[in-house]
Amino acid sequence: MMKKKTVRLTLYRYAGKFLFFRIKNRCRECDISYTILQRLMNEQLRGKPVSLRIVPWLDNFWKVIWRGGWHAPILTVNSKVFSQGRVPDVPKLLSTIGKTLNDTSLIQSGEVKIEKVVSPEKESAITVYFSPACPHCRWLISYLNNNGIKYSSRDVTLSESARKDVERLTGRLSIPVIIAKGEIIQGFDKSRLNDLLGILPENEKPIKSDIQKIIPHFTSNQLREIHQKAVNILAKNRLNGWTMPSSSLYPHLWNWDSGFISRGYLHYDPEKAYIELRSLFTGQWSDGFLPHIIFNPEYAHHFPGRDYWKADNSGKVPAGIFTSGISQPPVHATMIAKAIKLDPDKERALSFLKEIYPKLKKLHDFYFTERDPYSENLVSIVHPWESGLDNAPLWDEPLAAITDTSEWALSMQQKYDELAEQGDRPKRTYIEKYSYLIENMYKNNYNWGKIAENHPFLIQGVLFNSILCKSESDLGKIAEFIGYSADIHYERADKVKTAINNKLCDEAEGIYYNFDLVHQKHIKRDTIFSYMPLFAGIPDKDMGKAVLDTLRAHCFCIADMDCVAIPSYDMCQVDFDGEFYWRGPVWININWYLAQGTRQYGETQLAEWIENSLIALTDRNGFYEYYDPDSGRGLGEKDFSWTAALIIDLVAKRLRVRAGKPQVH
Ligand code: GLC
Repeated sequence: MMKKKTVRLTLYRYAGKFLFFRIKNRCRECDISYTILQRLMNEQLRGKPVSLRIVPWLDNFWKVIWRGGWHAPILTVNSKVFSQGRVPDVPKLLSTIGKTLNDTSLIQSGEVKIEKVVSPEKESAITVYFSPACPHCRWLISYLNNNGIKYSSRDVTLSESARKDVERLTGRLSIPVIIAKGEIIQGFDKSRLNDLLGILPENEKPIKSDIQKIIPHFTSNQLREIHQKAVNILAKNRLNGWTMPSSSLYPHLWNWDSGFISRGYLHYDPEKAYIELRSLFTGQWSDGFLPHIIFNPEYAHHFPGRDYWKADNSGKVPAGIFTSGISQPPVHATMIAKAIKLDPDKERALSFLKEIYPKLKKLHDFYFTERDPYSENLVSIVHPWESGLDNAPLWDEPLAAITDTSEWALSMQQKYDELAEQGDRPKRTYIEKYSYLIENMYKNNYNWGKIAENHPFLIQGVLFNSILCKSESDLGKIAEFIGYSADIHYERADKVKTAINNKLCDEAEGIYYNFDLVHQKHIKRDTIFSYMPLFAGIPDKDMGKAVLDTLRAHCFCIADMDCVAIPSYDMCQVDFDGEFYWRGPVWININWYLAQGTRQYGETQLAEWIENSLIALTDRNGFYEYYDPDSGRGLGEKDFSWTAALIIDLVAKRLRVRAGKPQVH
């Protein structure tokens, strides 16, 4: 049988890292090429056997240099350099692809004559050359619209002749370009425009704009391939009955990781999802507490390892099990509630949900009875790691205020230095504080009531409580399914929701903030976690709109710039670091939540863009722990389990829809 012809397009974009060199600035031609290719994939190439990869050039320059490609953007077609140093010629590209695939429709669309070069400077008073993904272009267009200026616009990503015009007028492909009254203005130069167009600054109308997101598209075959790659990662990381977050740095069983992982398994092997949670709950303490790590007895090499926690001081650890002494966000009920719809064997789902329900309920009960010291229906965490967001900027202030140090801080520091060699781990700065908090807990024998009285770190977190709120209502669904009363869960979900809205919401700013119980104040840091109540349906309609407006107004790549997905910290903050763990990088679980939240509040396009961008990101760059928002470079651990599991969730949903199966919400 003849092998089916396919075309592989690879765009080497000006970004990346090599040894000590890192590219920080953007390349306009690369951005335009990227937009053009995304658009072609969604339009002319949709459904054709063509794949597109976007790779950071500096990380991969050696792969193309020997083929003659040295100047980004470089586009290769089936590994041959097609164009470089400039935006690819679209008709020629379509025709090349058409010839390779023997596809006459593509060859013909490639042969369409280029529109004649117009001379806009004569034909219309004002002409704007733009690309949809260029922020300055969006601002310029918004400025003209809001100020009632009439103009004609030409999208350089759609028209070859528009690109030629720009090059002819300015000597290079730099946008936006505006031709007004015979003058050529490059960039968005407001004061020059105001002079030229006679707009007085006091009458000027403000700009409101959004980046027009180009949603990546995948063929069903591509989706199946991505799904398979993700399934392989979970298989590789799975030991006897549970799954490591990754095989090198995280060889134990982690609490919320296992929750996310179980969602992945539900889509193709529900039994494994059940086994995963069953294994996790073997570590549940007698008071309902679920530790953040259940140690794998085969591996001694995690730090801080099982001996540091002295969890046995609590007298509550199940016999023969070794655990840490802090918890993590209770995602489990939400993750496994989908068994009701996803497991084709309803009896099996029923029996497992009956088995796990009392354990989940006990865990949730624990939070309300032991971690809500002032009975406010808000759970407080006792250590930054308990949030799952280990070194997020949220904890800087509360940690800086801790002055005590621990007995073993020094040995912990040395160990951390060794670990830091393995990747971008939290470094020395707060290690003394981290260890002091642990020490205070084991010295108080993990008696949570006592700890609440003297502990220097007690925080009511937005993400943690939003997750609890959603999990309570999903536990209600589980209870209904197995024939138990669900009232307590819906009531508790409602109470947490009200408490979040009353205490953690800043209505004037349109945002949610963590509350520091020790210092009795809100922690006003603009992290992405401030927007998490959306996915749990916590804000009402008006507040939801306000939160989305705030999200747009900050640098999270929605209205301001374009990145591979949503970063974890506002990119305009001085201490934003796109490569450092929870202080800037893109995390798949957080984006997954945000997509659900934005969709619930009517932002369908944005949600689709986030989810498809996550799929594209893992497809192109691998299944990493986290990613640089600008270049998309994978960081931290490779072949990371929750990344794989949540991508399975997104891909499986898309495949179900295409197969005409009912959608599972
Ligand atoms: C890191 C993350 C945490 C995760 C753990 C294992 O500590 O911050 O959220 O659970 O790694 O993946």
